[in-house]
Formats: sequence, structure tokens, C-alpha cells
Amino acid sequence: MKQTPIISMKKICKSFPLEIGGEQQVLFDISFTINPGEFVAIMGPSGSGKSTCMNIIGALDSATSGIYELYGKDITTMLPDELAKIRNEYIGFVFQNFNLLPKRNILDNVMLPLMYRGLPMNERLERAREMLSLVNLENFETYLPTQLSGGMKQRVAIARALAGDPKLILADEPTGALDSKMGNEILKFFKKLNKELGITIVMITHEFEIASYANRVIHIYDGRVTYDGPVPKNESVLLKSEQKVRKK
Ligand SMILES: Nc1ncnc2c1ncn2[C@@H]1O[C@H](COP(=O)(O)OP(=O)(O)O)[C@@H](O)[C@H]1O
Ligand SMILES: [Mg+2]
Repeated sequence: MKQTPIISMKKICKSFPLEIGGEQQVLFDISFTINPGEFVAIMGPSGSGKSTCMNIIGALDSATSGIYELYGKDITTMLPDELAKIRNEYIGFVFQNFNLLPKRNILDNVMLPLMYRGLPMNERLERAREMLSLVNLENFETYLPTQLSGGMKQRVAIARALAGDPKLILADEPTGALDSKMGNEILKFFKKLNKELGITIVMITHEFEIASYANRVIHIYDGRVTYDGPVPKNESVLLKSEQKVRKK
């Protein structure tokens, strides 16, 4: 049986209106499919369109043209309310700056997305505790985010992302605010979640070293996909692929 892709993008274009009139096109005919269980890095230099692409994948923004299906559902023309529901149900977000509520303890932070699901309190508690122990923070329930290291904060954010049992974890530069030791820890953790629990991960990064933790790289340059395949032995393969766009 053919499995339903988690993400299917067909010729996605995105333009932003310019204040002086006209528009700036940022994404050009982006097409790719991501299947359940994959660990994919979307890589490219600053300004290449990674965050724009991630916002579309995450149903935070919509494409100007093209078709985007999330888990078989065409969400191209959905309204903001419907998109919010889809986000909550299908996607766990991990951001560079953790986005935790600073005045709530970490148990509350992990429970929060479950509230929108209408789950009873005891189930929310049980689920949040399970997720905190998955990221080895079961002894820190009552701590505030400010009392934790950056690496621990990101683990809380991962527990929160996983709590709603999403189809997809979407991480934008998840190690960008961490030193390399803590960053490696988080990347190894992603690897483990993917390998052992089969969780699908899409990670945005501008660094090859970080992308290397994934099993597949989609390289974006000037809003176009220039490489899509296994992680190459070294970065030069990706840099060379940029020539396709430069020559245009
Ligand atoms: N909301 C927006 N309005 C206008 N231009 C934008 C907006 N978001 C991004 N851009 C432009 O799109 C291009 C790609 O940006 P972005 O997707 O943030 O790249 P990256 O994440 O790879 O650094 C940049 O030229 C940026 O200025
Ligand atoms: Mg960005």
C-alpha cells in the first residue's frame, strides 16, 4: 500500500508585496514530498527562503500559488481558523528561542497545547509527565524555564512539541541559541526520536554540520531547490548545486 506523504508540495511559489509597489518573489516552484519516518534538513544560506518555506509547511502562512497537502489534506486555501486547528493536530513546533512561557513551570508549559484538545486534566497531566520523562526531565516538573540551561529548555520545548502526538516535528534552527555541546545533545536526541520512535522531523538550518544529522537534505538557494537527496560527504556538493541558479 502506498503511504500518504506527510508533506507534499507541488510548484509552491511565494511573493511578498513591496511597499513601493510590485512584489518580491521569494519561493520559485518548490516541489518535494516528505514521507512518514523521514528526518530531513532544509538547508540554505541566510535569505534563501528557509523560514518562508517553513511557515508554509507549518501552516503559519499560505503560498501564493502551487498546491500544498499536509497528510493528504489540501490546505492551500484554508482559512486561518482551520489552519490553527490543523497546526495543533498535526505539527509540533520547536523554535530557536524555545518559546516557553517564562512564568509557568515546565509541566504547565508541556501541558498547554493539550488544553486546546479538550483533554481532561488528569490525561493532560499524565501525558505531560510521560513526555518530560522521555526528555529526561522528570525531576524538574516544578522548575521555571529561567532556572534551566538552554539545552534543558530546548528539551522542554521538544516534550511540548511531542505531547500532542503530532505527525511531524518542525524545527527552525533548533540549536541556533545553544553552544555546540548542548546543540549536539539536542541533535542526537532528534536522531534518537526519529530512529527509535519513528517520529518525522523536518529541521531548518544554515549549517552543513547540523544538516548532517538528518538522512536527507533539501538545499534551497535563492528560493529554489538546488539539491534534494542523501546527506553528501561534504558541503561542496551542495555549494556546487547552487550554480544551477546562479547561471540563470
Ligand atoms: N513577511 C515578509 N515580507 C516581505 N519580505 C519577506 C517576508 N519574509 C521574508 N521576506 C524576504 O524573503 C527572503 C527570504 O527570507 P527568509 O525566508 O526569512 O530566508 P531564510 O530563513 O532562509 O534566511 C528575504 O529576502 C526576506 O527579506
Ligand atoms: Mg530564517
